[in-house]
Amino acid sequence: MFDTMTFTKVLGAVCGSLLVFLLGNWAATALYSMEGGHGEGEESQSYVIEVADAGGAGDAGAEAGPSWEEVYAAADPAKGEKVFAKCKACHKVDGTNSTGPHLDGVVNRAKASVDGFGYSDALKAMASDSWTPENLEKFLTNPKGYAPGTKMSFAGLPKIDDRANLIAWLATAHP
Ligand code: HEC
Repeated sequence: MFDTMTFTKVLGAVCGSLLVFLLGNWAATALYSMEGGHGEGEESQSYVIEVADAGGAGDAGAEAGPSWEEVYAAADPAKGEKVFAKCKACHKVDGTNSTGPHLDGVVNRAKASVDGFGYSDALKAMASDSWTPENLEKFLTNPKGYAPGTKMSFAGLPKIDDRANLIAWLATAHP
């Protein structure tokens, strides 16, 4: 049975917790909007400038972290063989061409130099240069960015470890 006293107590408890909830909510909202206001300020912009400076010295998209030389020196050819699965649809390493030219000994090979393969004008225009590990690294990061007009339809390998391991594997002999 409810008497008036019990009813009043229950009502008081409900109102009390509602008030606490509302106050907490208001406080949280106020805090968040204050933080937001600071975040948009000069502080975050000074970070953008720092990153742009660091990137200017190296390649586009360079991040703080080990350099290409360091990653390549520690590359694992066995892992690179697995990455080559992404190239297999178009490239072979047994001396025969398919959609793409064969990649036997491609490391330090002259660009666009495989006899009997019909290269794009984009690659032919680079033929005086060769596929050093560094050039391969840039090409495989973004083929169309490195050689605009290339007919290699491949988006690129975004991970530096994948590129290093793969190039290390390409540099080994394939029976
Ligand atoms: C969809 C097919 C395709 C895939 C996938 C592909 N390539 Fe190619 N690749 C080509 C074609 C076509 C060419 C010739 C490009 C041209 O003439 O512009 C080429 C050219 C190249 C060349 C230049 C060779 C030379 O003789 O100058 C290299 C190096 C190369 N590819 C490496 C790779 C690697 C490594 C992968 C995997 C990460 C890969 N490609 C994935 C089709 C492909």
